[in-house]
Amino acid sequence: MIQQLSDRLRFLQAFVAHPRQVGAVLPTSRRAVRDMLDLADLPGAGLVVELGAGTGVQTEEILARLKPGARLISMEIDPRLARLLAERYDDPRLQVVCDSAEKLPEHLHGATADVVVCALPFTSLPPTLRRRILDMLPLAVGRRGAAVVIQYSPLIEPELRKRFPSVRRRLSVMNVPPAFLFACSHEEQGPAR
Ligand SMILES: C[S@@+](CC[C@H](N)C(=O)[O-])C[C@H]1O[C@@H](n2cnc3c(N)ncnc32)[C@H](O)[C@@H]1O
Repeated sequence: MIQQLSDRLRFLQAFVAHPRQVGAVLPTSRRAVRDMLDLADLPGAGLVVELGAGTGVQTEEILARLKPGARLISMEIDPRLARLLAERYDDPRLQVVCDSAEKLPEHLHGATADVVVCALPFTSLPPTLRRRILDMLPLAVGRRGAAVVIQYSPLIEPELRKRFPSVRRRLSVMNVPPAFLFACSHEEQGPAR
C-alpha cells in the first residue's frame, strides 16, 4: 500500500516534469495489466521486451508469468524511473535499459522478441518518434510472437493495422481511464477474449 502510494507520487512527478512523454497521471491498474498480459503467451516466451516500463506495474506481472531462464528487457527513457526498476527487481532474468524505445534493435543484437509489451503514450509522442517506434515494432516481434499495446484511446489502431496482419482489440474498464488493449501479430489469430 505504501509502495503503491509512493509509486503514484513518483509517476505524478514524472508526468509533471514531462507530460507528453509520460502521457498519464496514474500508473496502469493491476487489473488492466493482467487483461493486457493475458493477450500474449508469456509463460511460453523466451525473450520479452517491455517499452515504457514506468514504475514497474507491468514489469512485476511479466516476471511473475515468465519461466526460469527467460529474459525480460525493460526499456524506460526516464533515468529516475529506470533506476527505481533496477533497484527494485533483483531478478537475473531482468535487464533494465534506460534508453528510448526506438533504440530497441541495438539492445536486441539481432534477436527477435516472443512478446513486446508496449505502454508508450503514442498519441502524445512527437509524430516522427512515434512513426520510428511503430515501424520498428513488427521487426522486433518474431514470426510467431506478439506485441501487446495499451493506450487510452483507439487512435493508434489504424497505424497498428498498417504494420501487422492481425490486430485484436479489447477494452479494460477497470482502469482510469478505461484502457484500449491491442494484440498485434504476424499471423491471423482468433478474436480477443
Ligand atoms: C503511460 S506511462 C506507462 C508506465 C507503466 N508501464 C504503466 O503502465 O503504468 C509511459 C511510460 O513510457 C515512458 N516513455 C515515454 N517515451 C519513451 C521512449 N521513447 N522510450 C522509452 N520509454 C518511454 C515514460 O517515461 C513513461 O514511464
